[in-house]
Amino acid sequence: MKDFIFYNPVKVIFGSNSLDQLKEQLPADSKIMLVFGEGSIKKNGVYDKVKAALEGVDHIEFGGITPNPEYATCMEAVKIAKEEKVTFFLSVGGGSVLDGVKFISAAMKFEGGDPWEILSKSTPVTDALPIGAVLTIPATGSEVNGNSVVSRREIGEKLAFSSPLVMPRFSIMDPSVTLSLPWRQTANGIVDAFVHVMEQYLTYDVNSPLQDRQSEAILLTLVEVADVLKKDPRDLAGRANLMWAASNALNGIINCGVVQDWSTHVIGHEITALHGLDHAQTLAIILPALMENQKKHKGAKIVQYGKRVWSLAGSDDEIIAGAIKKTKEFFEFAGNPTTLSAYKLTVEDCLPAAQKLKDKGWMIGEHEAIGYDEIKSILNIAK
Ligand code: NZQ
Ligand code: ZN
Repeated sequence: MKDFIFYNPVKVIFGSNSLDQLKEQLPADSKIMLVFGEGSIKKNGVYDKVKAALEGVDHIEFGGITPNPEYATCMEAVKIAKEEKVTFFLSVGGGSVLDGVKFISAAMKFEGGDPWEILSKSTPVTDALPIGAVLTIPATGSEVNGNSVVSRREIGEKLAFSSPLVMPRFSIMDPSVTLSLPWRQTANGIVDAFVHVMEQYLTYDVNSPLQDRQSEAILLTLVEVADVLKKDPRDLAGRANLMWAASNALNGIINCGVVQDWSTHVIGHEITALHGLDHAQTLAIILPALMENQKKHKGAKIVQYGKRVWSLAGSDDEIIAGAIKKTKEFFEFAGNPTTLSAYKLTVEDCLPAAQKLKDKGWMIGEHEAIGYDEIKSILNIAK
């Protein structure tokens, strides 16, 4: 395997009633900004519990972070947080709220030009205000990593940055709060976590048997859990297993020393920026088609995946075809269609995504073998 540094200081507080421990995690003598989304926490009781923990603590609120958090909304929060001399951010919500908070906390300390440069020019984050998280949707792994994805609709951009400085100090993960999720968001979480593992696994062998088996364990768990939750979305053990699996998919463990390929995410982010699809809907469209298009590079690993995750047998070609089919069927079973037409999109509608990457001069994939022509082929396979 390759050399690596593993660093993950996030304190995870997991389980039913874990919200009871929120108060004691909050730093003393701080001015807190409680940040949340568009209101789900007010319907499922999470807001009331958080407010109870904040009783007697100096704090203000900022609601309204949307899915695919918007730069303009984040900058509004930055303005208020500066005026109010906020020293700590408490994110209560899903990946979008937390990603927004990560950007806000970095923007608070950004010196020089426009904080958008953290995303557009990959200007390194050198300081950030501390963050705590209460997670309400298992999907992104944002609660255990330093990644953030922020959108700027007026220019059609959805860009990511990463810094250990924005990793949450703590993440409270109570699976019972996810019982209020609509199925669409549960399906999105299952598919997003599955694709996170695939992006870190489905490249080529570097003699990393432990990381491979850790990845396969997460994939197998997600397959099992999808089945459990489809039968009974209120199965609390299933909710807990999904929550922990999704965190483990992107907490930095399985990518230690391996070769990664985040092409499905890169293309998917462009499609969300263009057409507003949910993040995981784009992934369900792109990944199986990308596996087909890239099988000459990824073939050996697809065979391993087919054998170990789907128990397939036969010739390599048969296993590859079977593994792609199983992947598509799994996403469809979870609830995310795998074709552009299912979302009323055509190849032509999505070609600007390929053009955008070409204009940026990006070649993606573990061999930098995916450019405009390959993305066009991938879109054609997925049509
Ligand atoms: O805004 P509210 O009212 O809270 O509603 C949310 C939102 O509408 C709702 N929701 C969340 N928890 C709920 C709930 N509804 C009922 N009950 C609950 N317990 O669910 C909707 C989706 O929430 P969102 O936060 O957008 O979902 P998710 O966690 O999937 O985050 C998606 C965002 O994360 C980015 C994606 O690109 C997208 O912008 N990603 C972040 C990553 C990271 N930081 O590591 C990696 C990922 O690959 C991904 O790119
Ligand atoms: Zn994702």
